[in-house]
Amino acid sequence: VYDVRKLYAETGAFTYDPGFTSTASCSSAITFIDGGKGQLMHRGYSIEDLAEKSDFMEVCYLLLHGELPSHAQKAEFEQAITYHTMLHEQMLYFFRGFRRDAHPMAVMVGAVGALSAFYHDSTDITDPHQRMVASHRLIAKMPTIAAMAYKFSVGQPFIYPRNDLSYAENFLYMTFAVPAEEYKVSPTLARAMDKIFILHADHEQNASTSTVRIAGSSGANPFACIAAGIASLWGPAHGGANQAVLEMLQEIGHKDRIPEFLERAKDKNDPFRLMGFGHRVYKNYDPRAAVLRNSAHEVLDELGKRDDPLLDLAMELERIALEDEYFVSKNLFPNVDFYSGIILKAMGFPSSMFTVLFALARTVGWVAQWKEMIEDPGQKISRPRQLYTGYGPRDYVPMDQRD
Ligand code: ACO
Repeated sequence: VYDVRKLYAETGAFTYDPGFTSTASCSSAITFIDGGKGQLMHRGYSIEDLAEKSDFMEVCYLLLHGELPSHAQKAEFEQAITYHTMLHEQMLYFFRGFRRDAHPMAVMVGAVGALSAFYHDSTDITDPHQRMVASHRLIAKMPTIAAMAYKFSVGQPFIYPRNDLSYAENFLYMTFAVPAEEYKVSPTLARAMDKIFILHADHEQNASTSTVRIAGSSGANPFACIAAGIASLWGPAHGGANQAVLEMLQEIGHKDRIPEFLERAKDKNDPFRLMGFGHRVYKNYDPRAAVLRNSAHEVLDELGKRDDPLLDLAMELERIALEDEYFVSKNLFPNVDFYSGIILKAMGFPSSMFTVLFALARTVGWVAQWKEMIEDPGQKISRPRQLYTGYGPRDYVPMDQRD
């Protein structure tokens, strides 16, 4: 192994911090997390207040503009979003090109990346107006893309957006309505959906947001950057965890088997991890999990599924894990993904759509962070260093002298 210490000593010091556990990659005024206190704030407003008192459109405005909107600003913002809810009609061919059994996240990565080919005017990142139009387009079109990915996977006709409905209502309508049948959106479900969107809107420099910033730091267009963020979110250690939670609960199957799975989660030779538990930053409690646990009860009551065995199992698993020395000593608590899967399943979403909904909600965070980065006068292309562990210099061996 090449001794790089001398070389690095000559070229200047840098930190070796795999996984960025203690390196700030940027400065940001959007989101603050106090992991020790289990606190999350957007622009100074607590996530509990926003989830309880606000709505998703208002939170989008707050993340993008830094302040809560006035009445007029809110109306203008909603108008700007609804103006862009339709997709270019040729995008339909794009969807139809996928295999029917494609994972909807695969469809979403492709469709969002392709937006740059359809909305070329918004790819000029030097124009502040076009940056805002691109942000509006992405926030507005994500529900349409997500609903189309779902409709395509179940073989139903695409349902076009309805701009007289709220953001969450319109998404539920495009997903669950079928032609020639009346579909009424339940206000309780629409509110729960809106809350899920608020809780996932931004979470500072997580893997997907950092991916968006790194991709954007080269000047890449916003649609390409958000597609990169979606790809990163897809992983089971990040946005894919809510799908994994549900699969895990189904595998556990019964309360009696909880201890067996907890033991497996502690065994370092077993790759099994308790999905929906643990967080890089929260070392006390994920405040979003607490809001969603209450929401889970409201939604299941509304749907007449109060005795849902999976919710029972999840609550029992949480109770036992929080009393277990291993989980307590490692500060492992339920994260936002632990309860969201149960709510989404009860609403009728297949588990393959869970991460898609996460991406839909996180889009505003991604675009707000992307805009903040572009507008930062000190912005530089992201170019991490490495700790080289390979060979030192050696002579080239011609092919006729090799084995
Ligand atoms: N089950 C069992 N043990 C765990 C778990 C878990 N879910 N999470 C962490 N640990 C253990 C690790 O084995 C490690 O033990 P050690 O100290 O004996 O080596 C210790 O706790 C610290 O874990 P790390 O993996 O170092 O923590 P890190 O900050 O890198 O990982 C992560 C955080 C990825 C969220 C991890 O807790 C995990 O994989 N959780 C399950 C997946 C999940 O729920 N992801 C969603 C995250 S939230 C989001 O993306 C919205």
